[in-house]
Amino acid sequence: MQISIAILPLTSRLACAAFISDRALPSSVPAISPSERHGNIAHGHVARGNVASNCRDVTFTVSATAQNQVATSPPPNLLNLDASLAFLAQPVELTTVSGTQKIYGQYCEPVKDSSRAKTLQFLVHGITYDHKYWAGFQTIPSSALYSWVTGDPITLVQAPYQVELLHDIICQLRSSAHAAIPTSWTRIIYVGHSYGSILATQLSSKHPKDIDGYILSGFAVPLPNEIQLRGVVGDDYSQASPERLPQAVNAPGYLISNNKKGRADSFYSRPEVDFSSVHYDLDFDTRGTMAMGEALTTVEIYNSTSYTSPVYVLTGQHDAMFCGNGSRTLGTPDCGSGATSQLAAVKMFYPAVPASSFDYYAQPNSGHTLQQHYAAVKGFAKAHAFLAYHGF
Ligand SMILES: *[C@@H]1O[C@H](CO)[C@@H](O)[C@H](O)[C@H]1NC(C)=O
Ligand SMILES: *[C@@H]1O[C@H](CO)[C@@H](O)[C@H](O)[C@H]1NC(C)=O
Repeated sequence: MQISIAILPLTSRLACAAFISDRALPSSVPAISPSERHGNIAHGHVARGNVASNCRDVTFTVSATAQNQVATSPPPNLLNLDASLAFLAQPVELTTVSGTQKIYGQYCEPVKDSSRAKTLQFLVHGITYDHKYWAGFQTIPSSALYSWVTGDPITLVQAPYQVELLHDIICQLRSSAHAAIPTSWTRIIYVGHSYGSILATQLSSKHPKDIDGYILSGFAVPLPNEIQLRGVVGDDYSQASPERLPQAVNAPGYLISNNKKGRADSFYSRPEVDFSSVHYDLDFDTRGTMAMGEALTTVEIYNSTSYTSPVYVLTGQHDAMFCGNGSRTLGTPDCGSGATSQLAAVKMFYPAVPASSFDYYAQPNSGHTLQQHYAAVKGFAKAHAFLAYHGF
């Protein structure tokens, strides 16, 4: 079922904004004892069960105004490392963009755990994926899954605009402004993957009261992007053919990876040992696009100085996109371990989050697309335990 939602009248938009700015932040969370911090939390209250049949399609009509980056001389593909680096490194000049979008999502009803009926998990996928990325994560009571913006892939489809769109969606969810999703959520957990996690840092920086807890997956304090891009060149990102484009927006600047082995080398760990080729075949066949504007604005991770609620980092130990040269063919990526790892370092972007509300887990034997690795069950259990421990 596809439900389209009318644009909210201006008055409800203002009420919606006030709703968020006036809302009380959650009270302080319990301290975690050291033995619980890294794995001994009981998993008993994690809701389980396949909720796929309880999911339905929803559409949000959202508007936003944002300060996007002026984007000059985009290369036609990512095959030329120097041209790609020059595009990413151009001086930051801002320009105002605005517009209305229909954002597709999927809403999954709570299964059995009624104590969580007022908590929504809001799942935001990464570049070249869509809502299907989260299929395995739906052991949770409720969720909304989003696909991205359409429009000019260079000047409009950028992180600042997407963050304001996310803010508008959260606003609608908080104020029950969406007819197809009737509950007014008292708590919203944002679960990001990769670019979805980068957007999360920008959302919590600009709108610190929007979200009650973040799970940042496929994310760590990255190595400089000139390092990552060296490996990504092997993925053969070039202009996507029209049938691959979101809602047939046939503009230059929507790229797709065409090298099947290259994509696996960037996003996965050891073939057949750490993941199944059956899963990867599906990943490659259904892969989505990357907008050049997204590539341009992945560079910045924001400092969320005012955000105070829980944050969990969940990333593959061998994530080549954040902890390596962008491809496992250029050396085995390793995010490190313990307090000196690139996962632990994420805390520096959350100075106001108490140490007891921040934790991380490096999922073993896994690359960037950690959800598609055999070890994903361990990562999900950890993330769910973290949420349960913090009362979600
Ligand atoms: C990345 O490449 C550099 C230079 O080629 C090499 O020294 C380094 O070990 C590689 N790093 C990883 C994590 O593979
Ligand atoms: C974030 O901001 C805080 C407070 O201004 C500062 O202490 C901290 O060093 C900043 N972190 C980063 C990574 O810039």
